Amino acid sequence: MSIREPHPHDSARLHVTGAARYTDDIPTPAGTLHLAFGLSPVAHGRIEALDLSAVRAVPGVVAVLTAADLPHGNDVSPSVHDEPLLAQGHVHYAGQPVFLVVARSHIAARKAARRAQIDITPLPAILTLDQALAAGAWFEGGPVIWARGDAAAAIAAAPRVVEGRIEIGGQEHFYLEGQVALALPEDEGITVHASTQHPSEVQHKLAEALGLPLHSVRVEVRRMGGAFGGKESQGNAPAVAAAIAARATGRPCKMRYDRDDDMIITGKRHDFRIDYRAGVDEAGRILGLEFRHLVRCGWAQDLSAAIADRAMLHADNAYFIPAMRIESHRLRSNTQSATAFRGFGGPQGMLGVERVMDHIAHDLGIEPVTLRRANFYAAPVATGEASGGDISAKMNAPQETHYGQKVDDFILPEMVAELTKSAAYEARRAEIEAWNSRNPILKRGIALSPVKFGIAFTLTHLNQAGALVHVYTDGSIRLNHGGTEMGQGLQRKVAQIAAAAFGVGLDAVQVSATDTAKVPNTSATAASSGTDLNGAAVQAACATIRGRIAAHLAAHHGCAPAEVHFAGGRVFAGDAEMSFAEAVQAAYMARVSLSATGFYATPKITWDRTAGRGRPFFYYAYGAAITEVVIDTLTGENRILRADIVHDAGASLNPALDIGQIEGGYVQGAGWLTTEELVWDDQGRLLTHAPSTYKIPACSDRPRVFNVALWGAEAREETIHRSKAVGEPPLMLGISAHLALSAACAACGPHWPDLRAPATPEAVLAAVHRARGA
Ligand code: MTE
Ligand code: MOS
Repeated sequence: MSIREPHPHDSARLHVTGAARYTDDIPTPAGTLHLAFGLSPVAHGRIEALDLSAVRAVPGVVAVLTAADLPHGNDVSPSVHDEPLLAQGHVHYAGQPVFLVVARSHIAARKAARRAQIDITPLPAILTLDQALAAGAWFEGGPVIWARGDAAAAIAAAPRVVEGRIEIGGQEHFYLEGQVALALPEDEGITVHASTQHPSEVQHKLAEALGLPLHSVRVEVRRMGGAFGGKESQGNAPAVAAAIAARATGRPCKMRYDRDDDMIITGKRHDFRIDYRAGVDEAGRILGLEFRHLVRCGWAQDLSAAIADRAMLHADNAYFIPAMRIESHRLRSNTQSATAFRGFGGPQGMLGVERVMDHIAHDLGIEPVTLRRANFYAAPVATGEASGGDISAKMNAPQETHYGQKVDDFILPEMVAELTKSAAYEARRAEIEAWNSRNPILKRGIALSPVKFGIAFTLTHLNQAGALVHVYTDGSIRLNHGGTEMGQGLQRKVAQIAAAAFGVGLDAVQVSATDTAKVPNTSATAASSGTDLNGAAVQAACATIRGRIAAHLAAHHGCAPAEVHFAGGRVFAGDAEMSFAEAVQAAYMARVSLSATGFYATPKITWDRTAGRGRPFFYYAYGAAITEVVIDTLTGENRILRADIVHDAGASLNPALDIGQIEGGYVQGAGWLTTEELVWDDQGRLLTHAPSTYKIPACSDRPRVFNVALWGAEAREETIHRSKAVGEPPLMLGISAHLALSAACAACGPHWPDLRAPATPEAVLAAVHRARGA
């Protein structure tokens, strides 16, 4: 069996030796031209005049294009056609591409781009959430409101009310490989190699921009050097720019953003402000809860509607909230267009309710894990008592989320019980309390946070995938599917699924680069569903081919097709036994097709976005983390001392890759909430646009003690081999780091520390002062 085994990433050796080829490593044909954007220096304004003569005069410059030079469409938006590739009349953020330089070298293009004389009349810019709200600058016409029950009445009737606010910063993706695309003109159309999670969308945007039918545009993706949602839509611009320049010049064109340009041009995680008001009983159980989400979306809509929706869909996290009202304001601002980032709004929504839990625990003096358990969804089967006798007597009906989906496999109570035991939570909490009372300068904190994350695209039609599988006459297998590799190990998992289907070793399987000419009309590799969707499509294609081989062998060897078995690289048909290659040869000689497509559409999902009701998710993935931190109350410096995690990847297809995703996700989530701080000046210019000023976690920032375990129970739904998606959910385990820092601050005094995110040293110091009542 190739599934359930801890095979290393298929490119692991190539990654660590530096031999893996990324888009920028593809040898370019002679005469390839290189591109750079000229960027807007101001956040909002009217372009009065654009003098590009000095740009054109730089040696090596071949062409300079503006919006007026674009032959067809001028749009790179993934949603509502509101994102011109090159500014048209107005500029909407500092860093917006205004013109495009085409030159003989990368450096010449970049140098020339700085020579422009751009005459812009500044207009008032919306930079902050308050300014956006005051200006009524909503996308979608106004706030989106979903409600269950009468939250206001429930809060009014509740014995206790807890209210507050949390400010949550955004996050730069900091994929190691920046945005890049290489366009190769062909006889009729064009081929573009791009670093994108969404080759089909790049194909669409190219076709629009070039005035070509889709069949004349081919997009290929071998691998990305990280994406994290930052290449769901942000790869459109460089790909379209390269293709337009290639059509205009008839030469191959490549565009690769420099790191600073990449950070200045592209969107990041949405920053949020969440206001909350909870009515609770004396035991801390929530009776009614109101949230107001303010979401800073930037200048264009991009994927903000779906992201803000997902924040609302995760505002309950693991808790049954009988009456809930969420008001979500998707606000336009003159900043980068915020975009997808691992968790897709879920992390912000989840942090909101975890903050509420901590605030209630603090105000009512209830132990935070006890409080969380008291608010958990009911587990459909009472844990530990279901053996023997009448199981149904022990069942309680699944509870519904605020959007009406049944939570019918709620395993968090068991997971949390297991984790608190393995991490010795009670004992350590007591020890930390004692330690804190002896130590006036350093304070430690410990916290647990659970994760319940919905799996499926909330745009229901995206939950489909196709595959094309070839078996060659030597018994080797080539897979094509629509998913893209960004380091998460998708290709390895899909290869394992194919190898298992044919009962052969992993060596027999190769996965092609993702190619729109091989598998069409694909969805982005996103929403963590890469393996769920593409793996199932590949499995379907393999089943078709295996069925044909079995039918042929059964007829030939006088047995039923169901009696033909594929295992251990051998095929058994009645009394006959042969190698897989021999079986394939026999089928080939009998003129049996050894190539097939496969298709998969996720079952059971329905979603009414306007009403905010339905079953948007096929299932939930669960996890829980306990983090311990220490802070220095004189400087605000802090570090993670230990993290213990138990995470639900269903019956893991590949425990090695899944644990890698969990570790990486946790660290990325903790980085978002601790060291990673985006700073704009009062003119809307991003100041943190390089690693010198924007601090992602380094190896030395990982928890000193880092215990990660897979939960291992099979998925309840019929997912691919009963596994569960694992790409995004673990990021939200990093929330426990923020809660632990808040607990350490709370150890400094009796008041609510009100720690903002990210918990930089400055933020920690401010929280320490608040806790002391200063
Ligand atoms: N892991 C690595 N190494 N690099 C990445 O860019 N992206 C994450 C996650 N894990 C990412 C990653 C995001 S945002 C998603 S949606 C999923 O991987 C996408 O891949 P999957 O659906 O195959 O899990
Ligand atoms: Mo991931 S944010 O869905 O690309």
